[in-house]
Amino acid sequence: MHILHISFECYPIAKVGGLADVVGALPKYQQKLDHKSSVILPYYENKFRQSAEFKEIGNGNVQIGDTTYQFSILQLDKPDVGFDIYTVYIEGLLDREEVYNHFDDTERFLAFQLSVLNWLNVQEEVPDIIHCHDHHTGLIPFLISHASPYTRLKDIVTIFTIHNAQYQGHISYDKLHYLPDFDKSKIGLIDWDNQINPLATGIKCAWQVTTVSPNYMQELQKNANGLESLLSHEQKKCIGVLNGIDVETWDPDSDSMLIKNYTETSYISGKKENKKWLCEEFDLNPDLPLFSFIGRLVGEKGADLLPEIIGETLDRYEVNILILGSGDPRVEHELEILKEKYKGKYNTYIGYNEELSHKIYAGSDFLLMPSRVEPCGLNQMYALRYGTIPIVRRTGGLKDTVIDIGDNGFGFCHDNAMVWDVCYSIKRATDLYDDQKRFKGIQKQIMKIDHSWASSAKQYINIYSTLITQK
Ligand code: ADP
Ligand code: GLC
Repeated sequence: MHILHISFECYPIAKVGGLADVVGALPKYQQKLDHKSSVILPYYENKFRQSAEFKEIGNGNVQIGDTTYQFSILQLDKPDVGFDIYTVYIEGLLDREEVYNHFDDTERFLAFQLSVLNWLNVQEEVPDIIHCHDHHTGLIPFLISHASPYTRLKDIVTIFTIHNAQYQGHISYDKLHYLPDFDKSKIGLIDWDNQINPLATGIKCAWQVTTVSPNYMQELQKNANGLESLLSHEQKKCIGVLNGIDVETWDPDSDSMLIKNYTETSYISGKKENKKWLCEEFDLNPDLPLFSFIGRLVGEKGADLLPEIIGETLDRYEVNILILGSGDPRVEHELEILKEKYKGKYNTYIGYNEELSHKIYAGSDFLLMPSRVEPCGLNQMYALRYGTIPIVRRTGGLKDTVIDIGDNGFGFCHDNAMVWDVCYSIKRATDLYDDQKRFKGIQKQIMKIDHSWASSAKQYINIYSTLITQK
């Protein structure tokens, strides 16, 4: 089977969050199952690009309103990721450093989707499966089925994965003329609440819809940022498939970003060395338990709760807290201010730092995830693999992957995204830390949990195969 993943992010080419990790790993595991799986994403003018070589394998034009853009398809030369990677280059529109948050994102998302389709349209061989990820690619299933330039592609099976239903990519109707000629009797398929809604379009038009964890699929029936009734209506073609992790990239035994590598037998000394480095680097006390947070500093992640959690915790307990993230400027500012007050026990790194994140997963004792919304969450799975105990709110994929220690599990779970609940979990965690024998036993236990992509990659292949037989 030939699968093409279409996405705005893919690790290591461009990463903002977990979408990149998923699209950078799932194809590799699908290749291992003897399928041809590749990825197409925009060409960004970023750090990765400077160290990589690309070769042009196609080009063409796209029309967005009155503007014609020339695009080139640039294939990454000698990818060492285990699958082929193609990028769409459009000078001035896509070749920027930042992935999102540009004034012309609507034009960028559309030009990308149309370039991919125009390129596929002239290929001799087309993929069996087009796998679209998030709203940036949500119009593709509609365009393939109902836009006249693409009738040649209309039998290709499409699958749409919702990584996050908070973001839907609304487009107002004054930009309707950006779309290529399509069957106007089908206009209802792109509409939701009097706007063009690419996320809703993907849900309506793809042959199959998946979310990144089973529990998130259930949650969306009740709360999907306005799309609840659509998801209930389309329930039959929706399924939750739990994300996996790339256990080759995320392996404490071979991770070149760590201070010291370790295994299930050497984890005590290995984690200690990584913690020692973190404590020296961030002026923390290595004799105290280390609680960390890694993530986007946004409401979804419960980041606005962090300043109060830090104050409440450090006023009461002898622990360290370390934060790595960027996002809401107000939260960033509050986190910075607290550094002075809790010097020696708390520190924060505002920004994005892949290498530091690996060191934190390895050197921490506990990982905090007080998320309000977490469609899957990869951090808790990386933490488990690195022997770091997760403290999570029971939501989305966190509920599917973390079992409370009180229920014969290995983590700490609470139900409310509230300061008190998180602090109480931290208190329970410090009690566990005081019982070092049990604490170390749990660390060993969690390192053995298998969250590799192997089984979910198979599940996706089974889904594709079933769809192909329905053609
Ligand atoms: P989301 O995609 O919603 O941000 P996920 O848990 O799926 O959340 O994935 C987040 C990914 O981004 C993980 O690989 C995490 O380590 C990484 N990450 C988040 N913030 C940072 C940061 N500031 N520096 C480095 N890595 C980060
Ligand atoms: C989104 C979600 C996150 C999920 C990731 C990868 O960014 O917010 O929970 O893990 O996508 O699917």
